[in-house]
Amino acid sequence: MSDSFDVVILGGGSGGYATALRATQLGLSVALIEKDKLGGTCLHRGCIPTKALLHAGEVADLTREASHFGVNAELTGVDMKGVNAYKDGVVAGLYKGLQGLVKHAKVTYIEGAGKLVAPNAIEVNGQRVTGKHVVLATGSYSKTIPGLEIDGDKVLASEEALTLDRVPTSAIVLGGGVIGVEFASAWKSLGADVTIVEALPRLVAAEDPDISKQLERSFRKRGINFKVGKPFEKLEKTANGVKVTIAGGETLEAELLLVAVGRGPSTANCGYEEQGVKMDRGFVLTDERLRTNVPGVFAVGDIVPGLQLAHRGFQQGIFVAEEIAGLKPAPIVESGIPRVTYCDPEIASVGITEAQAKEKFGEGNVETYNYNLGGNGKSKILNTQGFIKLVRQKDGPVVGVHMIGARMGEQVGEAQLIVNWEAFPAEVAQLIHAHPTQNEALGEAHLALAGKPLHAHN
Ligand code: NAI
Repeated sequence: MSDSFDVVILGGGSGGYATALRATQLGLSVALIEKDKLGGTCLHRGCIPTKALLHAGEVADLTREASHFGVNAELTGVDMKGVNAYKDGVVAGLYKGLQGLVKHAKVTYIEGAGKLVAPNAIEVNGQRVTGKHVVLATGSYSKTIPGLEIDGDKVLASEEALTLDRVPTSAIVLGGGVIGVEFASAWKSLGADVTIVEALPRLVAAEDPDISKQLERSFRKRGINFKVGKPFEKLEKTANGVKVTIAGGETLEAELLLVAVGRGPSTANCGYEEQGVKMDRGFVLTDERLRTNVPGVFAVGDIVPGLQLAHRGFQQGIFVAEEIAGLKPAPIVESGIPRVTYCDPEIASVGITEAQAKEKFGEGNVETYNYNLGGNGKSKILNTQGFIKLVRQKDGPVVGVHMIGARMGEQVGEAQLIVNWEAFPAEVAQLIHAHPTQNEALGEAHLALAGKPLHAHN
C-alpha cells in the first residue's frame, strides 16, 4: 500500500465517509481511517437504530389504537429481543451496503485509531499516512454532567439505552432536547412510564416556542411526564433503580436514568492541539470553507461547532472534497439545514424561528401563518394533530417553516427547497399539492399566507 494520498481522512462516520466518496469521484486518492465501524454514530449508535426503535413504538401504538380505525387487535406485549433483532437487521443491511460503496469507490480503508502527527500526516497502527490534504472527522460522544457517571446499568447514555434488553418499567430522561424527547417517546410507546427533566423552560428549546407548546400538549395527552425549568441536582442509586433530585427539592424515582444533555466533540488525544489546530472547548474551529487555521487541514461533522446532524456531515464532506478538487463550492448556510425530531408527534423545521426573524428584519417586518392539520384530510385519516407554521419577511420570501404532527419529517424536503430557494408564498401557492396528502397542508399554508386560503380561514 502506498502511504501517500491526495486526501487522508480521520474518522469514518457520516462526515468522513462522505468526504471519501466524493473525493474519489473527483479522481483524488483517498485514505479513510476509522478505529471502530465505518458509518460511525449515525449508523451504529444514533440516527438509524433510534428511528427503528421509534418505529417499533409506532407499531405498538397503532396496535393499541386499532379500534379507532375499526380494527380488532390487542397489544399483548413487546418482545425487546425481537425489536432489537429488527433494529440490528436494519443497521446490518445498511452497514454492508456502505462497506460495499467504500470498497467499490477504491478508498483505501484503514482500521485503527489515528493521530494527527504533522499537518499532513496521520499515524495509525504505527504507520505514517501522509496526505496533501487532511480532513478531521472524529465525531462526537454523549456528554454527562459532573457527578453523574454513566454506569451502563442504572445510568445510561443513548448508546446503552439502544442496546437495552428490556423495556424499562419506568425511566427518568435527563434533558428535553432531541435525544431526550425521542427516547421518551419510544419508551412510552413500548410501555414504560417516563418523566423528562429539562433545565430550560420548555421541551425542544431550540425549536420555535409554538412547536414546544404543541409537543408538550401532545406529550401530556400521551401520558409522558415532564418537568421543565428544573435543572438536575442529585442522583442516588436505590435498591431498585435511581432517585433523582431536581431544582426545588422534588425527587423522582425510576428503574433507570437516561442522560441526554448534549454531545461533545471527540477530539481528545487526536493530536489536533499539538499540531496547532485552533480549538474551542474541544471543538475544531473552521472558516466557512471548513478550513482550520492549519493550511491543508479541514474539519467536518460534529467536531465543527453548529448543528450535530448526519446530513450536515454528509454535505460538509461533499463540500470539502469539492473544495480540495478546486470546484469552489458555495458555502453551506447553517440555517438552511433541515432538522427533524422523530418523536410522536414528529417535529420538522428549516430556516429561522419567528423570534429570530423579528430580530433580523424588525418587529413589524415579519408575517406568520399557522395552518392547523385539523383541516388536512390525510392528517385526519391518520388521526394526528399539529400544524405547519410559516414565517416570512414582510413582502419577502419564506424564511422559516416549522411543522409538528405525524410524519412531518417527510414534509421537510419541500420546506427546505422553499426556504433555501427563498420562495415567496405566492410562488408556492401556484404550485399544485396532491390531494389528499399531508404535503397538501404545506400548499394550503402558502395559499393562506399569499392571501387566498382554500381550506382555511384567513
Ligand atoms: P440537546 O442539546 O438537543 O439537548 C440537551 C438538553 O439537555 C437541553 O435542552 C439542555 O437544556 C438539557 N440539560 C442540560 N443540562 C441539564 C441539566 N443539568 N438538567 C436538566 N436539563 C439539562 O442534546 P441531545 O438531545 O443530547 O442531542 C445531542 C445532539 O445529537 C444534538 O445536537 C442533536 O441535534 C443530535 N441528535 C439529532 C437527532 C435528530 O436529528 N433527529 C436525534 C438525536 C440526536
